[in-house]
Amino acid sequence: MGGKISPSIMCADFRRLEENINLLEKAGVEYLHFDIMDGNFVPNFALGPDLVRTIREITGIPFDIHLMVRHPENYIDLFDIRPGDIVSVHQEATVHLQKTLQKIKDLGARPSVALNPATPIYSIEDIMDDIAVVLIMTVNPGFAGQMLVPATLKKIANAKKYLGEAGYGHVEIEVDGNVSCENARKMREAGADIFVAGSSGIFIKGRDLQGCVDELRRSIA
Ligand code: DX5
Ligand code: ZN
Repeated sequence: MGGKISPSIMCADFRRLEENINLLEKAGVEYLHFDIMDGNFVPNFALGPDLVRTIREITGIPFDIHLMVRHPENYIDLFDIRPGDIVSVHQEATVHLQKTLQKIKDLGARPSVALNPATPIYSIEDIMDDIAVVLIMTVNPGFAGQMLVPATLKKIANAKKYLGEAGYGHVEIEVDGNVSCENARKMREAGADIFVAGSSGIFIKGRDLQGCVDELRRSIA
């Protein structure tokens, strides 16, 4: 099976949000990625539980909720989390990481740990039982439209090897940040499974969404 696509809703055309989501559903994307930013863990604000709830009314695509918030354990209950969703919490954002991942699992969702570019892959050693996904940030979180941090390509390959050797080859590797078709191809080669597609992947001015999804799909086949 090829890689999975998770369009980043913060990069959608907000004036045409419903239309965008209908097109993405038609294009067959596997997830919708929601960047939740608290103006504290990251120096920006974006999206929130109300939007997540509203979008549920217009699509059945599973959600991929990326919590870029400090103390995520305090905010999980605000979100309408459904079985099959991915919920990512940052390793750097809580001292109660295992408990938070367990809580996500108890809700029937797929727990994911997100790692900033500087956070070593080895920091997940003791929580491998608690995750379905590891989200490797390929830019520093907070803003769309940034350049790839080059060292993260090697990190994806290291993560693939590290998980496999530890007997956790089933844990999926998700990548987020500057996932252009060109970068996605390299990320796929390195071992990535789920691709967050934002302003560099599919929400590209002057291009149609279906065409962009198809092109990205080919890059990660
Ligand atoms: C970065 C966000 C990403 C971002 C990715 O903090 O988590 O989801 O929107 O999109 P681009 O392609 O703009 O890097
Ligand atoms: Zn994200």
